[in-house]
Amino acid sequence: MQTPKIVILTGAGISAESGLSTFRAQNGLWEGHNVDDVATYQGYLRDPIGVHNFYNMLRNKLQNPEVKPNAAHFALAQLEQTLGSDNVLIVTQNVDNLHEKAGSKNIIHMHGELLKVRNEKTGQILDYYQDVNYEENKLIRPHIVWFGEMPLQMDEIYDALSNADYFISIGTSGNVYPAAGFVQMANQFGVKTVELNLEPSLGENLFQTKIYGPASQVVPEYIKKFI
Ligand code: APR
Repeated sequence: MQTPKIVILTGAGISAESGLSTFRAQNGLWEGHNVDDVATYQGYLRDPIGVHNFYNMLRNKLQNPEVKPNAAHFALAQLEQTLGSDNVLIVTQNVDNLHEKAGSKNIIHMHGELLKVRNEKTGQILDYYQDVNYEENKLIRPHIVWFGEMPLQMDEIYDALSNADYFISIGTSGNVYPAAGFVQMANQFGVKTVELNLEPSLGENLFQTKIYGPASQVVPEYIKKFI
């Protein structure tokens, strides 16, 4: 049998059991903050220091040694090791680094990364682990795709989807486009579509296979068929 090509979309649900909050679990608030304030460019212009404080807090949280990959992240890393990086691509909406920590290599962070910042003028992207001090440097912003901004590496994602055998969506509610539209595109390309989530997502009807339960259980169980 030929090695299958697999594109995996992950969302906040895969990291929930690692202690990171999902977005839509608490009345539309993200860690107690209004999304318009902390996840739009307009919010950043209104209060750059407040927005940096928010991402500084998240960056610190992510670097807490207690925040570790869970069995779902490790299972996906094992899948890549078994089938090869050419055959397994993780497209994550998450800005955490838990896929990397688990050992995955072929990852696209379509919504940016918490441990990176970007120079607004030059576009240069830097690894960044400490607090941003806006008073000292007014040009650096979080390397995060905010609402109304273009997600990253879309051409590569569409290319991979069009060549895939499987599209597996894990831990995402299907509220945010373009990621929420990948399943439809995969169906059009004749790709097998699979949803692994705690509960049915908004796009539930578009998936051919659906398995519901905590990611740490359903992901390792499902990927056994490829290993
Ligand atoms: N295992 C599997 N799924 C889970 C778990 C778990 N332990 N816990 C929660 N979930 C599911 C929820 O049922 C929900 O369907 O994960 C999904 C999380 O959905 P959201 O919070 O909406 O997160 P996500 O889909 O990643 O959000 C997309 O929205 O706010 C923006 O840019 C942000 O990348 C984010 C995007």
